Amino acid sequence: MINIIKNKIFIGIISLITVSALGGFILSQKVSAEPQMTVYKSPTCGCCTKWIKHMEDNGFHINAVDVLEMNIIKEKYGINRKLASCHTAVVDGYVIEGHVPAVDVKRLLSEKLDVLGLSVPGMPMGSPGMEMGDRVDRYSVIAISKDGGAEVFNQY
Ligand code: CU
Ligand code: CU
Repeated sequence: MINIIKNKIFIGIISLITVSALGGFILSQKVSAEPQMTVYKSPTCGCCTKWIKHMEDNGFHINAVDVLEMNIIKEKYGINRKLASCHTAVVDGYVIEGHVPAVDVKRLLSEKLDVLGLSVPGMPMGSPGMEMGDRVDRYSVIAISKDGGAEVFNQY
């Protein structure tokens, strides 16, 4: 009789451990599914903060870093003048320059393309973080290749 009780307790403990281990696994899966992104920006840039909000609203976890000399960051990550915008972000080893829509960043991450990253050069009106009422510019999202080349990735 005592053995049966002991067995029941033992099985109870084992199933508790299994359930909590499984729970921990599912939780850690959920955390890693949320992309971690570092955004370098000028401390006074308002549109950068708005773009960060856009990315957060789309499930990105953002670490924002204020930088006084953004030129040094652009140079470090291989962003030339033609491709440059305000902020420079890094996610999963990719460089994201300027007001790139979250949907394009997600496509890049899921397709795991062999490129340096994406850019929306300049600061087109109507891009995420650059909303100005009815004013909407046409703009392209550029895929930057590792040798510095540029190809159209998406158009708006
Ligand atoms: Cu901007
Ligand atoms: Cu910005």
